[in-house]
Amino acid sequence: MLKSVEWTGNYLVIVDQTKLPEKLEYIELHTVSDVQDAIVNMKVRGAPLIGVVAAYGVLLGVLEGRNPYMVIEQLKKTRPTAVNLEKVLDEMQVVIDEGGDLTEIENRAREIERREVEATYRIGLVGLDVVPDNARILTICNTGVFATPGIGTALGVIYKAHEAGKVEMVYALETRPVLQGARLTVFELMENGVDVTLVVDSMAGILMARNYVNLVIVGADRVAANGDFANKIGTLNLAVLARHFKIPFFVALPTSTIDPNIENGENIPLEERPEDEVKKIGDRYITRPDAKVFNLAFDVTPGEFVHGFITEKGILTPPFK
Ligand code: MRU
Repeated sequence: MLKSVEWTGNYLVIVDQTKLPEKLEYIELHTVSDVQDAIVNMKVRGAPLIGVVAAYGVLLGVLEGRNPYMVIEQLKKTRPTAVNLEKVLDEMQVVIDEGGDLTEIENRAREIERREVEATYRIGLVGLDVVPDNARILTICNTGVFATPGIGTALGVIYKAHEAGKVEMVYALETRPVLQGARLTVFELMENGVDVTLVVDSMAGILMARNYVNLVIVGADRVAANGDFANKIGTLNLAVLARHFKIPFFVALPTSTIDPNIENGENIPLEERPEDEVKKIGDRYITRPDAKVFNLAFDVTPGEFVHGFITEKGILTPPFK
């Protein structure tokens, strides 16, 4: 399996995901500004991976001699929807509050990474139970090795189900506008020998109507106490379609993505991203450059649409306390 993040002891190495699929390029992050740039510009993305990179970001800040509290504040603003970022930074702050030295700060960042890696393997195994034989699975965005420091959440389940010989086909939605499905999910599933078919986002309906898929598994960026959850824009559409066509709809996530402090989905902050992500493909405008654009990166799906939350602690149902 590819590894998308590595702490060398002095600096961080990540895969620059913006270069995929053309190039698998590793870049070094030496400073908090490097980390901030990597998260904001989606060189790294995916809720658990953002959290791990931010934890090392705090360590890099301390190594730079910067005020850790200001570093934490700065990093918290990079991406608002994924709760892992906020939680990891709060956890790092506790170590700082307690006067932790460099070794303790480093150990905590490593521990956060280790926990997230382990969670993905367990999620994969727990999820096996919900995957039927001859599974034809629809998924959105990228929830695998480029979204976590381990094998992934929804893709973690798919990898384990593939090992068990249960997967007939994975349908990867391209995931406009940043194309995480086309660029990342297809790339990693093909690298790992899992049969995958790329489809445009608007094919989800007919895939379900004509029985091309018999299971939907997605990831999550933040799950509220009542089970409403934020995930990549388009997830809500999938949930509504899956309910209509009576197809099981599961969410796979580490419990670190649950935010028990938010009662329901109405209060989940939704990130609005730059207009050019929608207006351009590569360097070319696909609309008038002066067109108005509304580019929400995430939507919120009501918890009642979810058959189960596949976590490292088992398949859970709300409320989450
Ligand atoms: O904007 P992104 O690419 O960071 O969005 C990622 C997702 O929506 C994933 O589904 C989510 O973070 C879960 S990844 C294990």
